Amino acid sequence: MFTFAPTEGQSKAELHTDLLEAARALIQDEPDAVANMANLAALLWQFLPDLNWAGFYRMIDGELVLGPFIGKPACIRIPLGRGVCGTAASTGATQLVPDVHAFPGHIACDAASRSELVVPVIRNGAVIAVIDLDSPSPACFDAEDAHGVEALAAAIASRI
Ligand code: SME
Repeated sequence: MFTFAPTEGQSKAELHTDLLEAARALIQDEPDAVANMANLAALLWQFLPDLNWAGFYRMIDGELVLGPFIGKPACIRIPLGRGVCGTAASTGATQLVPDVHAFPGHIACDAASRSELVVPVIRNGAVIAVIDLDSPSPACFDAEDAHGVEALAAAIASRI
């Protein structure tokens, strides 16, 4: 049984350090990408407060395709450059969106989403997936979250 969980009262920096450590421990002996993404989605959901969606889109044949996630059913395919996820995938840059309604072309999978963080997963210089986090609260994510999830993305890139 895994008992990975955030500790009450810990700082955001500590939270991300623990999240990264738990992620490494979960995936280190497992080569299956789907199993790893499923566990990582669960881990993100468990560690980060105030989420309504957490998961992966994978780059397949030049478009993003829905991967393992927790949350409401979501749009399955996203063209590059479309929405927050497609922008992260086409630019290779993290998208920190405090107000999704102000993001041109935002794709509303869950009407409750108000802010979003999308981090590309890069392997050998190419975007192979994105990690997508949605929150029902405006400005839920900050630069510390972006850096934490970027570190996670780098740590898992060879395992998904
Ligand atoms: N909001 C995303 C679409 C994916 S869902 O949030 C799960 C976007 O604009 O790309």
